[in-house]
Amino acid sequence: LKKITTATIRNMKNKEPITVLTAYDYPTAKACDEAGIEVILVGDSLGMVVLGYDSTIPVTIEDMIHHGKAVVRGVKRSLVVIDMPFMSYHISLADTLANAAKIMQLTGAASVKLEGGSEISETVRVLTSSGIPVMGHIGLLPQSVHQYGGYMVQGKDIEAAKKLLLDAKELEAAGAYAIVLECVPFELAKSITEQINIPTIGIGAGNNCDGQVLVIHDMLGIQGNVSPKFVKQYNSLSTEIQNSLQQYIHEVKNRLFPLKEHSFDMTQEVLNQLYG
Ligand code: KIV
Ligand code: NA
Repeated sequence: LKKITTATIRNMKNKEPITVLTAYDYPTAKACDEAGIEVILVGDSLGMVVLGYDSTIPVTIEDMIHHGKAVVRGVKRSLVVIDMPFMSYHISLADTLANAAKIMQLTGAASVKLEGGSEISETVRVLTSSGIPVMGHIGLLPQSVHQYGGYMVQGKDIEAAKKLLLDAKELEAAGAYAIVLECVPFELAKSITEQINIPTIGIGAGNNCDGQVLVIHDMLGIQGNVSPKFVKQYNSLSTEIQNSLQQYIHEVKNRLFPLKEHSFDMTQEVLNQLYG
């Protein structure tokens, strides 16, 4: 069982598509690892998917570390990547280094992910030259939702497309080992993928990226509510969960559960002593 490293991921470009899923806890991480998923992302989507916030902005470093630790405990082979949350890499380079170091030291994860392009290329350079592997993330940046005024496809006009291509090249030059492309036209994702030498990991970015990532709750249909166009639901676990809960309620209300086989008993001797 060979541990997957950032070098492994880099070397997969032009050889084999890279599979990435999010996980936020031990059992989910264990399932992904055992299935053979190469990269497990402890995304700050944690905030929306697991903690019930309506954006990723309230997520803290402590939240990421708490869930990152649980994920790392469940993993033997996959590469674990942890999102640096909102404003944890913008205040100063010293602050950013301290935050990234804290995330890596306390969780044991081997990499962090940061949202942004050329604006953060200096930050990425400082992190990578300090021995902290960085996955980039460009296109739709959920931490900037209030700047956009919503979640929408990025890079549709010529200026925006050129900017994203430049961002990808600058992140590569700054030492990133891979870049997530979120919600960009597939033609642009293809072009970026062809023009850089590190893998692109797409989400809502078409089939020409070097890898794909999905939020595991979305792809398993755990939450039931409508998910965006780019998500494929491989299951509808919310339906199965509801069915099980309804059956449990029915059985408890009608004394159909627990049965004798779920119960413990006493010896006749003790019973005789107890009741005289
Ligand atoms: O937080 C997250 O889940 C992500 C992926 C969607 C790329 O950043
Ligand atoms: Na994220």
